[in-house]
Amino acid sequence: MTLHREHVFALHSFSSWIASSSSSSSSFFPSASFFVANKCIPPPSNATEPKLERRSGIVGCCYVKAPYIDCDGHGTNLNACIHKGATNRSFTTRRRMIIGTSLPFFHLLNNELHIELLETSIAKAAEKELDLEKIQEELRKVITKSKAAGILRLVFHEAGTFDLTTNSGGMNGSIVYELERPENTGLKRSVKVLEKAKSCLDPVFHVSWADLIAVAGAQAVAVCGGPAISVELGRLDSSLPDPEGQLPEETLNAIALKEIFQRKGFSAQEMIVLSGAHTLGSKGFGEPTVFDNSYYKTLLRRPWLESEENMGAMIGLPSDRVLVEDSECKKWLEIYANNQETFFKDFSAAYLKLINLGARWKVTDL
Ligand code: HEM
Repeated sequence: MTLHREHVFALHSFSSWIASSSSSSSSFFPSASFFVANKCIPPPSNATEPKLERRSGIVGCCYVKAPYIDCDGHGTNLNACIHKGATNRSFTTRRRMIIGTSLPFFHLLNNELHIELLETSIAKAAEKELDLEKIQEELRKVITKSKAAGILRLVFHEAGTFDLTTNSGGMNGSIVYELERPENTGLKRSVKVLEKAKSCLDPVFHVSWADLIAVAGAQAVAVCGGPAISVELGRLDSSLPDPEGQLPEETLNAIALKEIFQRKGFSAQEMIVLSGAHTLGSKGFGEPTVFDNSYYKTLLRRPWLESEENMGAMIGLPSDRVLVEDSECKKWLEIYANNQETFFKDFSAAYLKLINLGARWKVTDL
């Protein structure tokens, strides 16, 4: 029998549900009891692990509500355990649960389905979701509102080295080798912030710099009140720095800026929507830690033309100010100034494009 779209959807929904319920911040597993032929899940080493049951040749897996034991032996949650970097046992247990609880569902659907393949797919998808949640959890501990601007700028300097014609640069973690470049001044701080999260995650599962920076930028936007952007994992890191001179300079005019963005695969609209990131930071576009459309509203007022007494001359970079003088750019500045919802929607789409520029992806057995 062929696998219909609704089966795939049902499987996906089911796995997502399992993933979300098993990865809640609660330190308790949901109660569940399943019996699966010929499948053996390794036995527990203590009372808090899932119990293995054997009935008439059928191996059953019975999960009980039980607290985890932390690295010091005290009852606590998964987070405390992982944070100490001592074990990934609880994590592995969750993955076993996902596989164990998914199996009976496949059998109900149709015996002729490629069980092994689907089993792997569903477990991998759920695993990725758990990894993402874990990354987000660690990042939440280190990305405060005041650090958000630096983190979002880091994303642009990491991915913005991409060049379409040579297919070089992009989202490959190489920024860690490029921190001495003049255009990256100040970004060491942001890398240090993310290093804290990485050092907690790496003992549990390896996270690439490219993935970490991509998720961190989305979190920086969200923590400042911007849109929630869902980031796909799986980028590989480069072991070399990217070619130099790929990032736009602040002295460029609008035409040159459009050209340089075009060489990265971005339209004028995408350049304008990404530039809205300058709403964060201290360039005078509204509140430094609030992600909103005040960048566009401020630019259209051209405050630098007003008297110097009101500090208007200090607002924005030269590369921001030139945008108002270009009719194509101005059209988009007006659209985003008038509608924050459109700005959030378009920013999310352009951000996803940015964090996938030039990315090489882990090959999975999905
Ligand atoms: C249009 C071309 C761009 C140019 C010429 C440019 C240049 C700059 C410059 C010179 C700064 C000031 C750095 C400092 O304070 O030392 C800055 C800040 C910043 N840039 Fe850009 N940028 C551009 C586009 C982008 C894009 C596309 C993003 C993100 C999607 C971005 C994110 C940021 C952020 C968040 C800051 C504030 C950093 C902070 O205050 O710590 N920029 N940019």
